[in-house]
Amino acid sequence: MPDVETTPDIDLDAINAEAEAAEAAEQLREALRYHNYRYYVLDDPVVSDAEYDRLFQQLQRIEAAYPELETPDSPTHQVGGTVRDELGTAEHPTPMLSLKAVYDEDEVRNFDETCREELGRETVTYTAEPKFDGLAVELIYEDGRLVQGATRGDGETGEEITANVKTIKGVPLRLRDDERPVPDRLVVRGEAYMRKDEFNAFNRRREEEGKKVFANPRNAAAGSLRQLDSNITARRPLRIFFYEIAADGRDFDTHAAVLRVLPEWGLPVCTEHIRRCDNIDAALAHYEDLVVVRDDLPYEMDGLVIKVNDFAGHETLGVRDRDPRWAVAYKFPPRRATTSIEDIFVQVGRTGRITPVAVLAPVEVGGVEVTRASLHNQNEIDRKDIRIGDAVLIERAGDVIPQVVKVIEDERDGDEAPYHIPDTCPVCGAEVVLSDDKKQAFCTGGMTCPAQFRERLKHYASREATDIEGLGDKRAEQLIDAGLIQDISDLYEIEKDDLLALERYADKSAQNLLDEIEASLEQDLDRFLYALGIPLVGSATARLLAQHFASLDALMAADEATLTEIDDIGPEVAQSIAAFFADDDNRRVIDDLQDAGLALANPYAADEAPLEGLTFVFTGSLDDWTRSEVQRFVERHGANATSSVSGNTDYVVAGPGAGSKRDDAEALGVPVLDESDFHALLREKGIDA
Ligand code: IVH
Repeated sequence: MPDVETTPDIDLDAINAEAEAAEAAEQLREALRYHNYRYYVLDDPVVSDAEYDRLFQQLQRIEAAYPELETPDSPTHQVGGTVRDELGTAEHPTPMLSLKAVYDEDEVRNFDETCREELGRETVTYTAEPKFDGLAVELIYEDGRLVQGATRGDGETGEEITANVKTIKGVPLRLRDDERPVPDRLVVRGEAYMRKDEFNAFNRRREEEGKKVFANPRNAAAGSLRQLDSNITARRPLRIFFYEIAADGRDFDTHAAVLRVLPEWGLPVCTEHIRRCDNIDAALAHYEDLVVVRDDLPYEMDGLVIKVNDFAGHETLGVRDRDPRWAVAYKFPPRRATTSIEDIFVQVGRTGRITPVAVLAPVEVGGVEVTRASLHNQNEIDRKDIRIGDAVLIERAGDVIPQVVKVIEDERDGDEAPYHIPDTCPVCGAEVVLSDDKKQAFCTGGMTCPAQFRERLKHYASREATDIEGLGDKRAEQLIDAGLIQDISDLYEIEKDDLLALERYADKSAQNLLDEIEASLEQDLDRFLYALGIPLVGSATARLLAQHFASLDALMAADEATLTEIDDIGPEVAQSIAAFFADDDNRRVIDDLQDAGLALANPYAADEAPLEGLTFVFTGSLDDWTRSEVQRFVERHGANATSSVSGNTDYVVAGPGAGSKRDDAEALGVPVLDESDFHALLREKGIDA
């Protein structure tokens, strides 16, 4: 149990003196720092996102009411705010070196031989760690406070990006000193990167907004960190792994010791995939292991860095040109290949967006057969001069959709055919409009386009939306193909016999689906808004809307100007929401859903909080809920749901299989409820469950 209060129970309304506010702010800062550490360093959070957000917002409110209490290293300062005309420069205290790249086992063994010879040892101990594919950055801490961030630049001088690095999730503005004292000055280096899933979501959003998409997470990370406006950087999903202490603060004998200490100061290290290796064979074995798992890892790596473990060895081996002789980067096999474009077709998305896709002659890239590549838009096709029949270089980065890097023009024989997105939608025949910059194309068929509707229905039923589990992609297509649904509200008209007439439905499966469809009418407002598929409204924006509007009707009545007043909702999003609700077809669908019995609850509405002030911990399994359902349920009624038991916990609800949390509760004297006690408590609070 840490010394900090992990979920301080602060009543903002009760604060009316600056001293009280100061104390509350400090408690919140400590708690938030601790949760950042649990999340970004230990990868083991102990509170829900909702609880974290609540603490964060409380701190923001206190700092807004008492600006004199703000401190530069407050966790609320990780959200941007600095805009400049150009990036300054920063000299590195010691040069930022590069790494010699090697491509096969023989070269690695040569490296080992040189090290052994020059160090006069029979075997050399190494550390073997991923070579992360992002952007190298250097951070300087003085008295534990982050004072400077810089890019590598030419190795001697980099660009000063302090305001930007402060927005990276996982970069502590202040080092932890709970376990080990912090040196007066600490220079650390690491790699800023984007996770593959977060990069994909970010790129999808850019594509939807008609902005330039990034070819891979590395380019996106580099582009994001070199922004002049740190507010932009703050909105990018950047993360960091540290791998080095340079110069000051390096009071250790081995690299392995450094990697152990960095997390103690709150600096994230990729502990999971770093190995201390007794000899080069162990390092080579780690390489083989990483090659196998690398596609399944959440971030990109392009090789293994093998470093002599002891710093005495570094001294002896020294540096040649820019590369240390005590390390090599053993690169992974490339994931690029050449193939040819056999055809190009277009996909019609949920919002009518038309995306051209290349059909490739099948080719293996890094162990995966690739047959498609995204061409993004007409502008991209024109810029790269991509034609049907072209030989092309393609690149596959993790689970990112393969991209065409470039056309191999030398291989053209004159039979290649230029490509233009069609004037009419290949699915519904409606006109296609192309933006002036040719970066966006839309089918104007709207709800009448079966391709658009198909995607909308899949989205409506998806897990983050209304979560109709039995209506996966295949089932959704089957219902449309059978002519049972032409718009979302038709879902609620389906009868059992309709389903029984289809393939793969028996009495039970048909009834299950009907029950799930019926249940989806009782919905949280934010999920329903997301399910509607309003262009530019993802789940985060949907939540924001639910926080600001008590009901769907209130939101539908809001005009563009009102929407724009909400923080984090820009003019484009506001316009998109207003246009969506102004559309007759959309209004009709919502009316029909209301007639079918739509019952929306707003988890964020203040007047529905009978559990306000209570903190629950759930452990073991419950009959009526999954863990995340029950947490969401109590949060919706104003309570907190956390994952660790503390003095602040009001109830631990324990089902079969409950673990140590039940013991923690008993030790702390926190009441433990079983599922029926929990139901009784809910009834007592007037909640129907
Ligand atoms: S050590 C002399 N360790 O690779 C030591 N670098 O080519 C140089 N990189 O600029 C840094 N992962 O951006 C080191 N685990 C790792 C790394 C790593 C990625 C990058 C870093 C550096 C480049 C060197």
